[in-house]
Order: sequence, then structure tokens, then C-alpha cells
Amino acid sequence: MDSTQQEYLNLIAEIMDVRKRSSKPLAYIHTYGCQQNVADSEKIKGMLFLAGFDFTEAAEDADFILFNTCAVREHAEDRVFGNVGALKNIKRRHPSVIIALCGCMMEQAHVAERIKRSYPFVNLVFGTRSLFHFPEILYNVLLTGDRTFERDITEKSVCEGLPVLRDGSFKGWLPIMYGCDNFCSYCIVPYVRGRERSRSSEAVIAEAKDMISKGYKDITLLGQNVNSYGKGLNEDINFAKLLKEIDKIPGDYRLRFMTSHPKDCSKELIDTIAEGTHICTHLHLPFQSGSDRILKLMNRKYDRKKYLEIVNYAKEKIPNVSLTSDIIVGFPGETYEDFCDTISLIKEVEFSSLFTFIYSRRKGTPAAEMEDVATDAEKSKWFTELLKTQEEIAAKRCASMVGETHRVLVEEKNEKNGLLTCRTSGNIIVEIESDESIIGTFKDVKITEARNWILRGVLI
Ligand code: SAH
Ligand code: SF4
Ligand code: F3S
Repeated sequence: MDSTQQEYLNLIAEIMDVRKRSSKPLAYIHTYGCQQNVADSEKIKGMLFLAGFDFTEAAEDADFILFNTCAVREHAEDRVFGNVGALKNIKRRHPSVIIALCGCMMEQAHVAERIKRSYPFVNLVFGTRSLFHFPEILYNVLLTGDRTFERDITEKSVCEGLPVLRDGSFKGWLPIMYGCDNFCSYCIVPYVRGRERSRSSEAVIAEAKDMISKGYKDITLLGQNVNSYGKGLNEDINFAKLLKEIDKIPGDYRLRFMTSHPKDCSKELIDTIAEGTHICTHLHLPFQSGSDRILKLMNRKYDRKKYLEIVNYAKEKIPNVSLTSDIIVGFPGETYEDFCDTISLIKEVEFSSLFTFIYSRRKGTPAAEMEDVATDAEKSKWFTELLKTQEEIAAKRCASMVGETHRVLVEEKNEKNGLLTCRTSGNIIVEIESDESIIGTFKDVKITEARNWILRGVLI
């Protein structure tokens, strides 16, 4: 962060003090969408913290309310509109509260227009590429009281040095790149997050070192397509090399990464995982559809054969590799036959788990103009079939793990059953009975039972 923005944070602190409060001003931040948004919110929190704010879980107590929004599917957007509407009552009770919206939805002109028109109690809207001058924007809103829409700023390069206030104390996100250049035909992300840009390896490695020294045990490197990391940088680097460099940092921690695009997933990367010390034996490799015809329409730039080649290489090189994926059901033009290709692929690969979505039309994307043949009822029937098939696969995989020993990170207490939730290197949940004091540490557990896709185990 540059000194000008730092100065604005000081000015915000002054303005908030002018309001003569006996305790710190409070911010309420709600984050929708993916880890990229979570990581952005952690930067915003870092800046607000430096401006003297504390945080609250109750929107009605806050002086500043921020929704960091997601545009990936219509359902996500509907939820945001609903929840923004509900803020009207809070504004009526506390007219001085500043209501702000940011994130991917706000980068769409038609959304910003709708906010401007129909939600007059929203004070501030800013996009994903305005984070680096958030202090200045907020200061101006506080100073003038003007409604502000800051959406057209483009972050030309990567902005380093923003403070980060992470949500977790031992699991953390580490963005290595921003934006996306892939333009999958269904996806809004490239339009709302801009062109792909990588952080320098120096900055990423320094942040990883810092996190490890602060006790982070599970670090996930983030990017929409980490496999194309380094493109455009003035250094001899790619994702596999970056991963190797981070893996060299001594310490008691694990490295994960997401998301890997199959078109750029190299053997070098798989070899790096296989040879790594801290790198998890988990590969999240979204294939979206098992049908070559649909993959072409999706502009994914790989086919089923290439996908299976990578998967088989990973299975051969990384013992017990855990594979996960994203799948879209009901892409425009998809027939039951295409869908059956997806089913046969998941049976062949045997994923540990899947993130499954029904296709959602996104304004401005090429797929939005494509003709659809299946009805909503058909799509939801296919969707149910997909879930059922995957449940059986996951249950079978989990059952085969009974008797094995795994090193797990103990993450939290499950308040429902009093057990501790732990995670294997392959990202599979194991529940154990133990004392909360071991949360945040690695333990060896023996798997004793499989309950569908959740395992039970005992400490060794
Ligand atoms: N960059 C990541 C994914 C980001 S979006 C990747 O390429 O894998 C996360 C997931 O949301 C995608 O993998 C896709 O399965 C799903 N998705 C994206 N756009 C969608 C849409 N319009 N409708 C339904 N699902 C969508
Ligand atoms: Fe969207 Fe494709 Fe980019 Fe992933 S790679 S964010 S699915 S355009
Ligand atoms: Fe949503 Fe933006 Fe992530 S659209 S999925 S929050 S990149």
C-alpha cells in the first residue's frame, strides 16, 4: 500500500473519532462466493483495522456494512439482492451507517445500475479492481456523504503490500494471481475480475514465509487457473517451480492450491506434488463435462482423453491421490447422452468429492446466446442422478480407507456431535473424539469407520 492510502486510513480514523465514540467503530463484512473473495475481504479488513475499526457479527451494531458479492450464478446474485434489501431497515434505524457493496457482481454495469436505481440506501459501490484505493474511496464517502460508484478503475498491475487480516489463525489463503484469461463460454469471472496477472514469486514466497512463521499450518495458493501462473512476468518461473520454491521453506505446514485448469496441468506439476514435502496429495481439477462436444462449446480447450491422461498420470505418480472436480449440468445444448458421458467419467476417475452446479445463464457470456434443449425439470433430474452416483463413489472410496493411518490437521469442534473435525492431506474429513486443545495441530489418526463421505477415526 502506498503512503497516500495509508494517509487516508489515518484520516478515516480521525473522522470516526470526530463522532466521539467511547469504543471503536464497528464493521460488519459479509463475503459471498469463492476464496478469491474471501482473500479480498481479508485485505479490506486489514485496511479497516488500520483505520481503527473492530469487527462485529451483527449488522445492526455496525457503523460500516460491506457485502463482498459473487456473480458466478444467478442464485448467488439473487441472495445478495435479497440481503441488500433487508439492510433498508437497519439504515432506517441507524441513518449514519455506511452501506457498501463490492466484489464481482458490482463489476457488471447492469447490476450497478439496478443498485443505483432501486437501493437508494446503499452509499458506496466499488469493484474488484478498486481494492488498492479503498481507503481513499471510503474517506471521500465519509467526508462528503455522497453516494459513490467506483467501478471503472482498472488495476493495471498487481498491487502489493495491502495489509491482511486473516479470518483463521492456522488455515489461510494466499493469492498468487488475479483475474482470468480463459473465457470459458459460461463464465462471468473474466469479465468481473479482469485479465490474468501474476504476483512476483518474490512477493508470494515472502508472504508464505511470513504465514509459516506466524503458525499457519494449511496454506492454499489461490488463482482462477494457478497452472498458468507466471505468464507475463519477467522471471523464469511457472507454477510447478513456484510450488517447489515454497515447499523448500522449512516448517510444520501443508500446501494446497486451487484451481488447476486441465488444459495447463503439466506432468512437471504432478511430479512436483509427488516429490513434495509439504504439498498435499490432492488435486482439484475441474472437468465441467465428460462430453467432448460440450467441452468444445464450453471453450475449455481439452478433451476427455487429455483429461484422463492427466488423471492417470497423477494416479500413477502420487500414491492415494485424492481428486476433486467441478461439474456443470445442463449447459446449453446438453443432451442426456452428453450427460451420460459425464456420469461415465466420474465413475472412471472415482473422485473423492465433487462441486456440482446446474448451468446458470450469465448475461454477456457467449453461452448465454446458445440454444438450450433440455428443460429445467430434466436438468434437475440429471443433477439428482449425478449426486447419487457420486455419493456411491465417495462412500466406496471412504470405506476403502478404513484401517489406514492418516496425518490430519485438527480443525474445529463439530458442535452437533461434539467431535473434532480433522482433514487429511487428500482433503477428506475425519471426525475424532478428543480434547479441543489439539485444534490447530497435526495428528496421526487411524480410520475406524466410514459414514458415507465422512470418516471416523481415533488418535494414535
Ligand atoms: N477458475 C475455476 C472456477 C471458478 S468458478 C476453474 O476454472 O475451475 C467455480 C465453478 O463454478 C466452475 O468451475 C464451474 O463449475 C462453476 N460455474 C462457473 N460459471 C457457471 C455458470 N454460469 N453456471 C453454473 N456453474 C458455473
Ligand atoms: Fe471461469 Fe474458466 Fe476462468 Fe475458471 S478458467 S474462472 S471457469 S473462465
Ligand atoms: Fe464468485 Fe467472483 Fe469468485 S464471481 S466465484 S466471487 S471470482
